Amino acid sequence: MVDLADAARRVLDAIRPHIGEGKVATYIPALGNVDPHQFGFAVAGIDGTVHGAGDQDVRFSLQSVSKVFTLALALSRGDEAIWRRVHREPSGTAFNSLFQLEFEHGIPRNPLINAGAIVVTDQLLAETGDALGLLRDLLRAETGNPDLDVDRVIAASESETGHRNRALAHLMASFGNMRNPVEQTLDHYFRQCSITVSVTELARAGLLLARHGLQADGSRLLSPQDARRVVSIMLTCGAYDAAGEFAYRIGLPCKSGVGGGILAIVPDRCAVAAWGPGLDAQGNSVTATLALGTFGSITGWSIF
Ligand code: DON
Repeated sequence: MVDLADAARRVLDAIRPHIGEGKVATYIPALGNVDPHQFGFAVAGIDGTVHGAGDQDVRFSLQSVSKVFTLALALSRGDEAIWRRVHREPSGTAFNSLFQLEFEHGIPRNPLINAGAIVVTDQLLAETGDALGLLRDLLRAETGNPDLDVDRVIAASESETGHRNRALAHLMASFGNMRNPVEQTLDHYFRQCSITVSVTELARAGLLLARHGLQADGSRLLSPQDARRVVSIMLTCGAYDAAGEFAYRIGLPCKSGVGGGILAIVPDRCAVAAWGPGLDAQGNSVTATLALGTFGSITGWSIF
């Protein structure tokens, strides 16, 4: 029997000497203002009980972790058409890389790199008229925080400096793979990345996938098959060009964000969230990556 409260404490003890390692993302200037000497860890058991350690209640920018939830929302609509607009293969390239997208005729490799996530948001926006609103409502329900919202300073900073995302979106538009005007979709995309959460909240939200698509109120968002599909894409694509290294070191499906957060899923057992603002060269948090590896060693849990 694994004691999750004890595991969370032991993870913090192991990570303490590493707190502050890595480089805070500065390509989105507002993210550069975050104090790197912070670390939070939380694990939400399948029964909903959360055990945390460190800066477990400090909010940070969700960034690319949001892509998992927009993908879940798109699949929850039973809309297989999304798979004509985005593939499901790991890219082996950086999350904001452009060159592969041109070779592959404007169809992104997967929904967790920026281009793919922009397509998913575009699809949700075209189908529902409010991609950000849907995501915010889902995350409010699943985190249990009715005030969860976008950090407007970060959203503005992302938009001001979002040249690469604009380039990706315009390239896709040139291949006929955008359904809304580029700026409209990007407005939703920038804001979805700028939602703030704590690790406690993120671990709770991750239970949606650990419970195979069941929401906190017991209703079903995703079929078990679609929940499994989302988790499989996290494993193969959730850490970009470090996805292989993550599978090797951590052995769990993960999704990282440049805010320093990583969400990991242990199906049927728990959802784990770790956060430290300092990143490695691939844009994955140094301490959150270490923490998830440590958690795996302590519990012996892996999908392999
Ligand atoms: O679009 C971007 O570049 C950011 N809003 C999100 C990138 C991100 O989090 C990549 N993760 N490691």
